This record gives sequence, C-alpha cells and structure tokens, in this order.
Amino acid sequence: MSTMAAGLAEFVVIANRLPVDRFIAPDGTVTWRTSPGGLVTALEPVMRRKGGAWIGWHGAPDEKLKPFEHDGLHLVPVPLSAQEVEEYYEGFSNGTLWPLYHDVIAPPEFHREWWDSYVQVNQRFAEKAARVARRGAVVWVQDYQLQLVPTMLRELRPDLRIGFFLHIPFPPRELFQQLPWRRQILEGLTGADLVGFQLPGAAQNFVRLVRERVGHKTHRGLIYLPDGRSVKASAYPISIDAHGFEQLARTPGVDARAKEIRESLGSPKHVLLGIDRLDYTKGLRQRLRAFGEIIRDGSIDVDDSVFVQVATPSRERVDQYRLLRDDIDRLVGRINGDVGRIGQQPITYLHASYPREEMAALYRAADVMVVTPLRDGMNLVAKEYVACRYDDNGALVLSEFAGAAAELRQAYRVNPYDINGMKAALLEAITADPRENSRRMKAMRKHVVDHDIDHWATAFLDDLTAPSEPHDKKMRPPGGS
Ligand code: G6P
Repeated sequence: MSTMAAGLAEFVVIANRLPVDRFIAPDGTVTWRTSPGGLVTALEPVMRRKGGAWIGWHGAPDEKLKPFEHDGLHLVPVPLSAQEVEEYYEGFSNGTLWPLYHDVIAPPEFHREWWDSYVQVNQRFAEKAARVARRGAVVWVQDYQLQLVPTMLRELRPDLRIGFFLHIPFPPRELFQQLPWRRQILEGLTGADLVGFQLPGAAQNFVRLVRERVGHKTHRGLIYLPDGRSVKASAYPISIDAHGFEQLARTPGVDARAKEIRESLGSPKHVLLGIDRLDYTKGLRQRLRAFGEIIRDGSIDVDDSVFVQVATPSRERVDQYRLLRDDIDRLVGRINGDVGRIGQQPITYLHASYPREEMAALYRAADVMVVTPLRDGMNLVAKEYVACRYDDNGALVLSEFAGAAAELRQAYRVNPYDINGMKAALLEAITADPRENSRRMKAMRKHVVDHDIDHWATAFLDDLTAPSEPHDKKMRPPGGS
C-alpha cells in the first residue's frame, strides 16, 4: 500500500469501531462480520480508495490483536477490557453522550467512573495513532466516542494535521450544558485543525459554546486559540457510495431476490419498508403505530399492504435498548393481533442484520421507504434507498429531524411525533400518482449521485489540508468576536 511505506501511514482514520467485528461463535470458531452503523458504510469506500491505516476496536472485550490486513484494508486494533466496554462504550458513549446528543429522547446518565474510563480509552486511541502516523500525516478522528482524541494527539504529535468529524447531531446549547465535563469535551475537540458536522447549525452551535464556555475568540466558523492556532468548524453532510449501491441494485441476483421477497410477502400491492438499528432515536414505535392505524381505519386494506421492518440488533446490553426491544416486540404483536387476518400479517418484523445484497433487494422490493427518526445525524438508509431506485420509482417518507431532510427535499416529510401527520404522509406516498413519485425520486437521485461519499471526503480533506491563513490577521477578527 503506497501510503503505508516503512510501516507508518500518511493517512490515518481513528474510529471507535473497525469496519469488521470479531465474532466468536459458541463452538469457538472466529469469523469477521461487517460492523453495524452508518459510519462504517460511509468510511469503508473512502479507505479503500485512499489506503492508509484504520485504527479502531474490533468489537470483542479483553483481546489484544496485532495489526492485520482485511479485504484490502490495513486495520490496527485497539483493545478494550470488559470493564472499559461497560464504562467507556456502553456507559459514557452510549448511556451519556448518545442520548444527550439526540435530544435526550432517553435520559442520559452521568457517572464519574464512566467519564474516567472515557478519558483513559481516548488516551489509548491517541497513543496508538501517535505511533502509527508518519511525520506530517493526516489523521482523521471520527465521532462522539473519541472527542478528546484531537487534543490528546496534538500534545503527542504537534506535526500532524488533525481532523474530526461528528456523525451524530451536536446538541442545542441548553442540553450540552448539562454535561458535567462540557468544557473538557470542547477543549478536546479544539485540538483538531478542522471540526466537521453534518449540518451548519451544529457547527455554529459548537463555535458559540467554545466562545462562551472556553473563552476563545471566534469569528464565523473560526476559533482563534491563544497559542496562535486556528480551528475551523463547518458542515460536511456525509453520504454513501451511490454508484456502488446502484451497481449492486442492478445485478440480476438482486433483481431476482427482490421479486422473490415480494412473492413471499404474498405479492401485495404496497410494500412499505423500514431498516434501522434497533435504537430509540429511530422512531420505530411511532411509524408502526401510524401504519397499524391506517389499516384499522380502513384507509388501506390488510390484504393489499405489508410493512417490512428490519431492526438490526444494537448495543444489546444497554438498559434502554433492552427495554426498546421488548417494547417493539409487544407493539408488533399487538398490531398484527389486532388488524391481521389468517395468512395476512400486516407487519413482518425481522430482528437481524443482513448483508448489503439483501438490503439492496429489500430497497428494490419496497414501494415506500419509511425513515422516521426522532433525531438523526444524517441517516444513510434514506440515501441508500434513493441510490438503489435507478428506474426512478418508489417513494421516500422522511422525518424532518433526520440530517438527510436538508438534502432530500422531495421526500414526503413528516414530524414523527405527529401520528396523524404521519398517517397522512404514508397514505399520500402509497396512493400518489407514479409520475409524481418518479419526479420526486429523479431529483433526489440526482442529488445523491452528485453528493456521494467521494464528494464528502474530498470536501473535508481539501479543507483540512488547505494552508492556514497567516496568524496575525486571525487574532484580530473584523468586528471582534
Ligand atoms: C452510529 C454511530 C457510529 C456507530 C454506529 C453503530 O452510526 O454514529 O459511531 O459505530 O452507530 O453503533 P455501535 O455502538 O454498534 O458502534
């Protein structure tokens, strides 16, 4: 690999997870599985193109592994102990930050020992990157699990160019300020030369918090540090390998599988689809209720319509996720019991994760894709659906609280908290004139194809590596702070 000469990388990505998870079966056999979530979907094609090293956790506790090559990627595992998985990953990352950054949909918990573990693990990631990166290398830190890494890494390696990208929303100030360690998080991020967010509002929010809480001077998207450095904060809406998804969707195997899926559902008139990690931010309950109600009201017939909901298992040891699973199991059972008929279950619920080919077949099989998060940084499933609809048919129902809503403007927009509004949008999408859906899909496809993952990575990395303005000018921003 050209960027890995002498064992040191000139391009390094650091994320909590590696693109593959080490899975140990009960009989002891070890296999590697694609890691869950949008971050991996987005970054994998970038790394494939650029080369370099990917530093991350391999998904199993208490195991130290050597760096290895997997499917053309150079992977550098970082070990986590069972206690760190509990305190840093399930605890501070997913019991504190995740709910706090997603509008406190679930109550965040604040525990000092979780914070201590977060600091310790962030330090380990920073030290690993410091050993792997070549002099002057570009290091790109990803997501909420690693917000302290930029400053920790800069202390170890001031020669590096450091970028940070937050894949999830950045919370409103009122919520962020609940965090007992708010200042440390802000100072951790300002170690980067460039801090990227999904939406412009998040970047502005961050800059304002740095000014108010840390006391640095700022001007527009720039933060001026006392040591003469400046940090840029800006929005870079993430995307997918649109071409790759379209190619996959066009393969005869996927096409045949899509037909087979529709047949096994009883060849209904309307197939609606949801694909999400099983997460309380995704609005699963609201969407299933809305669907159940339009059948109960008689607006659509149970013989005509099926909702396929795939819920990928996620963070299963975290309490809120356990509760959610039981909740959704019960709700699906109740709706199918209430409005189903013999041989006609309105909801087909699958608690499983599937390979990309099967996802593409599901996208091809669905007339209406239903993406209704209560809050979501971007939501790449919405973009994947659009990319797979190469014949410009199908309809997308999209929550206005997904980052993707800012770009996919021709979707049927919903407020997922408004069940009646959601029922109306589902009906509108189901019954729309196919020409209307085609007009909408064409516009969305053009956007996704023009703004694909390469576009995202290039925009971020060009800004990260652009030469900084002279320092003196920046210390005296026009009009003060
Ligand atoms: C989201 C986050 C990622 C995370 C993924 C899967 O997409 O932004 O950082 O990796 O969810 O969650 P998990 O906890 O399984 O890594």
